[in-house]
Amino acid sequence: MSRIVYVNGEYVPEEEAKVSVFDRGFLMADGVYEVTTVIDGRLIDFDGHAARLVRSLTELEMASPLARDELLEIHRELVRRNDLIEGMIYLQITRGVADREFTYPEDAAPTVVLFTQARGLVDSPAAARGIAVISIPDLRWRRRDIKTVQLLYPSMGKMAAVKAGANDAWMVENGFVTEGTSNNAHIVKDGRIITRNLSNDILHGITRATVLKFAREAQMEVEERPFTLEEAKEADEAFVTSASTFVTPVVKIDETAIGGGAPGPVAKRLREIYLDETRKAAI
Ligand code: PDD
Repeated sequence: MSRIVYVNGEYVPEEEAKVSVFDRGFLMADGVYEVTTVIDGRLIDFDGHAARLVRSLTELEMASPLARDELLEIHRELVRRNDLIEGMIYLQITRGVADREFTYPEDAAPTVVLFTQARGLVDSPAAARGIAVISIPDLRWRRRDIKTVQLLYPSMGKMAAVKAGANDAWMVENGFVTEGTSNNAHIVKDGRIITRNLSNDILHGITRATVLKFAREAQMEVEERPFTLEEAKEADEAFVTSASTFVTPVVKIDETAIGGGAPGPVAKRLREIYLDETRKAAI
């Protein structure tokens, strides 16, 4: 398998897709990323991801090297060139190439890389049976709202989960759940969806925002506030949201089965609504 990858204005076979060892993404994790899902060869929630990208870049004092329409065209071109029907497009923008210094270089041109990952996402066994999560302390930095490429702690968390026989980890700070290693965390109690409010403590998930909008439109009650790990363990349902997992039920937290250990009706319904509506709106 050889993909066509986008690197700084060119479409090249993946073997030829190269970035300098002096790139600040490599040396300092000085870069941001987005993951946009493709279903039926079309982009899901593209504008949400494009808007958050600008926000992440702005927070790091980086200019946006590509306008929204240019970005869309690159995404579409990669879908075409790779015959992508279902999967993801990964995008990364770093501050660029400069001699190693802690201060930002003044004249570096940003490095822009995008590549595709073909993957079945809609028919997901994990969504059908639900996933198990373990709880771990949230030891990340305090600007989790910026989607930076420093993913070592989430990676360690996912490894700890797999070693414990689970699928993922929920991170906990001062007793309250922040989010999953690569998804937003939600619970359901007495029909109400409870999910942590937006702040610098979590990533402002694009899927989270869309799912909550659909939930409210369907007259479901949504409460945005921090919830404790204990509250989560006593919930009727729990679920995660992200671009690649949509809405996926959580049926076990540490040793506690949630909702009798099977996916519940709210998560199932939200997944259905999310997939139906976003597929209709895909571009
Ligand atoms: N992860 N929280 C964290 C820490 C994330 O890394 C992600 C996304 C989310 C969900 O955001 P969204 O709904 O916009 O995908 C929440 C991506 C999918 C990843 O790292 O692969």
